[in-house]
Amino acid sequence: MVKLPGYTWGCDEDTENSIVVKKASNATDIGDSFIYMSTDAVYDKEKSILGYTFDVPTLDNMEGIEPNTYEVTVAFKQDWGNKNVNILLEGRTVATDVSFGKNEWVSKTFTTQVTDGKLNVQVKNPRRKSQDDDPILNYIKVRAVKHTEPEIITYDSISGVAGAPLYDTDGKLIQAHGGQIQKLTIDGVEKWYWIGEDKTYDYRPCGGIHMYSSTDLYNWTDEGVVLKTMESMEEFTEDDYFKNLYGNLTQEEKEAVFIDLDRNNCVMERPKMLYNEKTKKYVIWFHADGRTPNSDSDYGKAKAGIAVSDSPAGPFQLLGSYKLNYHNDPDGDYSYDGWEGRGSVRDMNLFKDEDGTAYVIYSSEGNLTTYISKLNEDYTGLAVDRDEAEEGVDFVRAFEKWSREAPAMFKYKDKYYIINSGCTGWSPNPAKYAVADSPMGPWTDMGDPCTDSGKDTTYDTQSTCVIPVDPENGLYVYMGDRWNAGDLRNSRYVWLPVEFQEENKIAIRRYEN
Ligand code: DGJ
Repeated sequence: MVKLPGYTWGCDEDTENSIVVKKASNATDIGDSFIYMSTDAVYDKEKSILGYTFDVPTLDNMEGIEPNTYEVTVAFKQDWGNKNVNILLEGRTVATDVSFGKNEWVSKTFTTQVTDGKLNVQVKNPRRKSQDDDPILNYIKVRAVKHTEPEIITYDSISGVAGAPLYDTDGKLIQAHGGQIQKLTIDGVEKWYWIGEDKTYDYRPCGGIHMYSSTDLYNWTDEGVVLKTMESMEEFTEDDYFKNLYGNLTQEEKEAVFIDLDRNNCVMERPKMLYNEKTKKYVIWFHADGRTPNSDSDYGKAKAGIAVSDSPAGPFQLLGSYKLNYHNDPDGDYSYDGWEGRGSVRDMNLFKDEDGTAYVIYSSEGNLTTYISKLNEDYTGLAVDRDEAEEGVDFVRAFEKWSREAPAMFKYKDKYYIINSGCTGWSPNPAKYAVADSPMGPWTDMGDPCTDSGKDTTYDTQSTCVIPVDPENGLYVYMGDRWNAGDLRNSRYVWLPVEFQEENKIAIRRYEN
């Protein structure tokens, strides 16, 4: 780390732009707090990091104040072209790709714990190509946080289309989007387990895969992040959690794992879990995507990630990410193989049949066609190597060119059902469902399961799972995500009963609660 050569960062009083100046005062009174223009900025050109370290008081004994917790605001305004930075507090990224144009004020506020009396604030341009991309910031505001007791809610009902925020038993907002709920009996104790995407940091940094458990489907206990993401390759040697899971891998293998778990570049969506009776392991599959060293595309990788653990509460060890089955088109139409490659996987789900055979259901061929592929006995891969697999036997292309995503498969009596959505990003669209006598089809299009006003947007939701709550008595629950595109962490969960009717029809009606 070196000091800026001959310059300090400062603020032009007339424009409030962050500029490079020869001298800077230490702090400017801006009313309720100060703008600091520290001469202590350090700049690591190699890593493109501009950093500040503040001595902060230890706040472990102050009445009404959250111990050792600080609210940090980092603000940007500058007179150059567009800039793009990541923000790190205490060495961990808390925001990626914060962009700000010329003369535009952008500020971000976070809460962080400081345990060593030194608060580290860094801004970094992870893709710096030249001096023009250098990271910059205008001011940092630091303050103590008032202590508030979390409100603990005990639920005795489930939110329907009202989509009320849902808190865990510690009073924290539940982070389990694109999820799945199933009943498991572990050591004689029967519980519901809910796995989903942690969007604490919005789209990115990727929060990993989160697990909750419940005895009544209403009140959920936090089981933690069960598949964690990584800040840097150094964690393979410096962090016991990653050292224990991946310490034995070769450098090349670690690099591959890092691409899938790199919280500042990866995408982990729609995680689903199965228990494997034979291996006694829990297996997670998820849509593994995101930027790679060769591509800035968020959805160009298009693979299935697979991870295993001895417990649903983790830690899960990532085995890898894979392309799956592909279509040997006799007409040679491989247009969908282009940028995403053959055997691509995006929105996905798992289904375990009563005989133990498990399937992965996923959008492929540029989201045009849904595939259903048989899994191997351990549920850790395909039943048959994708280059040997036979279409119609080992996998099927279920909804050819229907452009569907968000598949949720379930079985009622002797019929198999899939509810899915159209492909409109985070915006909702009408659902559809299909019925078959076997997971391998043929599947019959049954139209829209929703019946009431709001059905054009599936009551403002997108399918993620259907929970067989009490299959004997036909009690199944549709689980939908109400995505909040501008603030994904505040996406809501909307659950509605699935009503079974004559001729294999189902209905999802509009219930507020
Ligand atoms: C719709 C998918 O269903 C989501 O899981 C997510 O991938 C968004 N698209 C991204 O736009």
